[in-house]
Amino acid sequence: MTADLSPALLEQWYPALLSSELHDKPVSTMLFGKQIVLFRTSKGVHAFKDLCIHRGVPLSLGRVENDELVCAYHGWRYNGCGDCVKIPSLPVERAIPDKAKASTYSCIERFGLIWICIGSPKDSVPAFFPYLNEELKVVLMGPYELAAAGPRIVENFLDVSHLMFVHEGLLGDSRFPEIRDYRVNEEVGLLRTDEIVVFQPDADGRGTSMNSHYVYEVYGPFTAALIKRNPDNDEMFHLFLMVLPMTEQKSRAFMLKARNYDKEAPDDAFIAFQDTLIEQDRVMVENQKPELLPLDLQMELHLKCDRMSIAYRQSLKDWGVTFGTA
Ligand code: FES
Ligand code: CO
Repeated sequence: MTADLSPALLEQWYPALLSSELHDKPVSTMLFGKQIVLFRTSKGVHAFKDLCIHRGVPLSLGRVENDELVCAYHGWRYNGCGDCVKIPSLPVERAIPDKAKASTYSCIERFGLIWICIGSPKDSVPAFFPYLNEELKVVLMGPYELAAAGPRIVENFLDVSHLMFVHEGLLGDSRFPEIRDYRVNEEVGLLRTDEIVVFQPDADGRGTSMNSHYVYEVYGPFTAALIKRNPDNDEMFHLFLMVLPMTEQKSRAFMLKARNYDKEAPDDAFIAFQDTLIEQDRVMVENQKPELLPLDLQMELHLKCDRMSIAYRQSLKDWGVTFGTA
């Protein structure tokens, strides 16, 4: 399944499902156009290619019983490691063929999400997890289903000059649209901008205006972050965007927001604010042409304020990412 995917895509963690979407039944999702089945046992969460090796039926049509995934067609039973441990039609004296296995993927559960990696994970957990520490209040947002290419969604998130127009009154004021020059620095495989000053009429849905300092980061092809800081009182949050590229033009986005203020406040208002912003962004990312993100810098017209977008496109090129790009 992976011949057409560059190593940079295979070694990443992707958010496959919300923890709350996976109970006692297997659930199927999609990554890079391939079906993946997730299921839960007493030992934790598991991810397999959603295909029974016997006759190609999706394992997600089956059920979970005694910590085993049971295929709906002929009842083959797979344990959490993907080994077929029982073939009901096989006379007891016959051995189960060695090839009777499911293709397994790395799978972990953290922060209300189930994460999968379909190659050899570069890190044991997503590289940004250390930022989600106990001093910060972490809230999960999404999933946001978007009919858009994953790279278009990530780039929209990294785009500072749309805030005053698409999110006017919330994240920007069109009377103050100028973006002063900033640099993009590359540090151990991470792209990070300088602090960019943006006037915020409502900042995070609490109705407070301020000059925010924005730092954007790119952790990998489908993971980015925004660190927003109020220079007057050092209130700040990290907002992580993780995209599951289901097909080239269909994605599921999740966000984790980690804030150092109002930690006792209910999370609903922060989630509702983000939901509003995503609906505003949806109109843009679902209508861009070409649908796939062009990596040739001669295509589309770039300004200095688009530096982070340019760096992101360049990184996708360096990583050999062709999925969702043109
Ligand atoms: Fe799964 Fe036959 S197709 S058991
Ligand atoms: Co936006």
